[in-house]
Amino acid sequence: MSFSWSAKDHKSYSNPPSAGLKRPRNDTGNKVTVVLGAQWGDEGKGKVVDLLATESDLVCRCQGGNNAGHTVVVDGKEYDFHLLPSGIINTKSISLIGNGVVIHLPGLFEEGDKNDKKGLKGWEKRLIVSDRAHLVFDFHQVVDGIQETQRQAQEGKNIGTTKKGIGPTYSSKASRTGLRVCDLLGDFNDFSARFRNLVQQYQSMYPSLIADVEAQLKELKEYGERLRPMVRDGVYYMYEALHGPPKKILVEGANAALLDIDFGTYPFVTSSNCTVGGACTGLGIPPLNIGDVFGVSKAYTTRVGIGAFPTEQLNAVGELLQTRGHEVGVTTGRKRRCGWLDLVILRYAHMINGFTAIALTKLDILDVLDEIKVGVAYKVNGKRVPHFPANMEVLHKVDVEYETFPGWKADTSAARKWNDLPAKAQNYIRFVENHIGVPIKWVGVGKSRECMIQMF
Ligand code: GDP
Ligand code: IMO
Ligand code: MG
Repeated sequence: MSFSWSAKDHKSYSNPPSAGLKRPRNDTGNKVTVVLGAQWGDEGKGKVVDLLATESDLVCRCQGGNNAGHTVVVDGKEYDFHLLPSGIINTKSISLIGNGVVIHLPGLFEEGDKNDKKGLKGWEKRLIVSDRAHLVFDFHQVVDGIQETQRQAQEGKNIGTTKKGIGPTYSSKASRTGLRVCDLLGDFNDFSARFRNLVQQYQSMYPSLIADVEAQLKELKEYGERLRPMVRDGVYYMYEALHGPPKKILVEGANAALLDIDFGTYPFVTSSNCTVGGACTGLGIPPLNIGDVFGVSKAYTTRVGIGAFPTEQLNAVGELLQTRGHEVGVTTGRKRRCGWLDLVILRYAHMINGFTAIALTKLDILDVLDEIKVGVAYKVNGKRVPHFPANMEVLHKVDVEYETFPGWKADTSAARKWNDLPAKAQNYIRFVENHIGVPIKWVGVGKSRECMIQMF
């Protein structure tokens, strides 16, 4: 059976300009807005995307999988998205899962069905999936768990992954044995043969891996048919979106800068590029089409899982941030580790991403504190460390230099404009902005859509 859709059949798709045709640099097409996590994840990207999605035509995921957990609160109803772009909530926009994302099909449909029950109707009609996206299989998730157990046994510590099969699937992709959406929708005999080989490879590496291959194949065939109407050639789809009539295109980053496979706190990272390059490679967007890049940061710092966290507060302050901020992982239900805002990591994230503005979320959580600290530099043996250390042994050892601010001790949750904020809170925000060197465009003071102060 052949794949039912191909770009050739789609008459409305224009051809890319020929090599001989000169395209002026200022005629690059529509610009894409990118929203990225600037810390260790869970900064409130879902909320910022939701805000922008109300006026976007196309909302895209470019990397990661259902390790992500993005919360959106609208009209008192709370939604959590893992694989679906948070823009799916907007019935007027299309959502796109790009080639850089890894998709666990049972997870995708479970998420869709759950949201359908909550009233989010018609999501399957608003979702487009790239035929080049790699598939996460159940055995990838089992292997994720086995690898964690092995790390614990061999090194005395694991990574604290979400066990969603992210690392093993990106490993299959990099070792060129992975299977993609286009393979599932192509010749199923071919797909089945490659699937069996892949399972065997993993079983030879992990003898304890048990997989009911035939049952999984049967299930995959059914999921494939349910997926088929949503699948497109993502490259052509994106090209048309960029070069057709004016369109507002939004990219929703998953995970965050410090979890990036290249720039994060390796090896305590995820397995994709969660920085701005991931938007280009994960969707087929040329760099010239990237417009605004919005970094999202909490007014403090959290981290789920293992790894260095210089400003972590293993004391009453950390506990207060955890409880007031309801800092519990959306995907795994684990308590998030909490600490002061770290401007060293935010400056580092800005170096890589080139943020054009920042959304500072959860300012309201700091409302009750007598004093608030902000990490501004790292020191080892009393000497300032000039860079964000690549080596985790060094990062574990750093002492943090803090600036201390008086708390504003007032409820900010009803503030809707800059002038509604106490002067001490304004002072805190201005300090952060000046130190990173990026304007703060939004300040979050609560969970819901309207709890966002827009500065310009
Ligand atoms: P994401 O992964 O970056 O989308 O963030 P998560 O959804 O995992 O975690 C952010 C949490 O903070 C969610 O529970 C949000 O509802 C909540 N949140 C976002 N912005 C604010 C804010 O400004 N104030 C408060 N109190 N909660 C917020
Ligand atoms: P969002 O998009 C917070 C962390 C995991 C673990 C490490 C590797 O909601 O901000 P993985 O399962 O990806 O192999 O786990 O990365 N991690 C996240 N932490 N928010 C996320 O996503 C995360 N995605 C991965 O906790 O430490
Ligand atoms: Mg999250």
